[in-house]
Amino acid sequence: MTAIKEVVNRFGKKEALLLQVILAVQDADPQNHLSEEAVNEISREMNISRSRVYSTASFYSEISLKPRGIHIIRICTNAPCENANKASILAAIKQELGIKIGQTTADGFFSLESVNCLGACYMSPAIKIDDAVYGDLTPEAAVAIIRNLRKEYQDEQNA
Ligand code: FES
Repeated sequence: MTAIKEVVNRFGKKEALLLQVILAVQDADPQNHLSEEAVNEISREMNISRSRVYSTASFYSEISLKPRGIHIIRICTNAPCENANKASILAAIKQELGIKIGQTTADGFFSLESVNCLGACYMSPAIKIDDAVYGDLTPEAAVAIIRNLRKEYQDEQNA
């Protein structure tokens, strides 16, 4: 049984569950995205048109149709974070990674995205890396988090 078939069996074939299926398939993808093959297989397994799968995937900013890094950094661009000096956090992250919003580092480790609000306005400026939210950030703290993730990964690889 393919991984996608397994996901569909776990959630069920109802169209109302399409978003959950897409998110689970994306989560299991090493490049954090929904490939064309995955769209085709979801469509086949759930008996839903490819265009319906594509339109659902395109509607949500959390879902990507192009390959992304192992870690997704999301920077909030709403007013509370903007007013709390989000620009300096973004500049520091861009400089550290050498990429702009919407891009992935050459080593495929980080992707940088913007988001409207992380629901963490009380600790602006905030970023989210994968499922973890970091708030009350300084540029130095943001860079330290990124370097730490890279170091953890390298340590794991060398273990
Ligand atoms: S405005 Fe940035 S987390 Fe809500």
